[in-house]
Amino acid sequence: MSDRKPFVGGNWKMNTNRSTGSDLARGVTDGLLHEGGVEVAVFPPFPYLLTVRSILRDRGSSVRLGAQDMYHQGDGAYTGEVSGAMLRDCGVQAVLCGHSERRHVMGEKDELINKKLRAALEAGLDAVLCVGETLEEREAGHQDIITSRQVRTGLAEIPGSLAERLIIAYEPVWAIGTGKTATPEDAQAAHAQIRGLLERMYGKDVANRVRIVYGGSLKPDTAGAIFAEPDVDGGLVGGASLNAADFVAICKLAAASARGSV
Ligand code: 13P
Repeated sequence: MSDRKPFVGGNWKMNTNRSTGSDLARGVTDGLLHEGGVEVAVFPPFPYLLTVRSILRDRGSSVRLGAQDMYHQGDGAYTGEVSGAMLRDCGVQAVLCGHSERRHVMGEKDELINKKLRAALEAGLDAVLCVGETLEEREAGHQDIITSRQVRTGLAEIPGSLAERLIIAYEPVWAIGTGKTATPEDAQAAHAQIRGLLERMYGKDVANRVRIVYGGSLKPDTAGAIFAEPDVDGGLVGGASLNAADFVAICKLAAASARGSV
């Protein structure tokens, strides 16, 4: 790790209900009460944002509230969509853009993801750009080309001055929900390649400030070794974020790694 403060996000995806989501939010906030070495955000489904927000606020938690997606238009006739301003109005501080499931299940393309990312930052939200290759693309040796395209197009027209509010999540599609975590070496190679690209786009200073986090089957027993890699600045957690104890353990591993105590 580096002097970048690690970030760990819990992407609950389309899981939980009002009761289990509330229990989960309480478990996460209580477990992280005295942990200041990592920035943590949870990303509940839209209907539970306000409930989770109340829990975080009532407990004076530093855990941040995130949303899993948004639409780039401000308002209007876009049935089923949610704007950045609406998210802000509900206390949301960060949003995921271009998650693998949005790309591969809902068919979102880089250009749309770029519009969402720009709109998120303009609305005052922090944004997490998710990128990553499929197994087919990896086996064809196209991993760098794919992630470079996703980063370049995703960040088009976004100035380096917004780097602090931007996180890139490298989530290889073949590792998401499969139990197959990338090796620490694979993760480091992909992250270094993305940081190199950021350097060519924005210069060294900005490239050194953007956090690049890893996602894909992170568990408490695998996260420590991945977080120890120099270009891995934390993680985006799916399945394991639904268990408060596992998620808290992963967050603490990121903090310990940044302190150099693992
Ligand atoms: P899993 O941790 O369940 O593999 O999901 C990763 C992910 O998609 C986080 O956004």
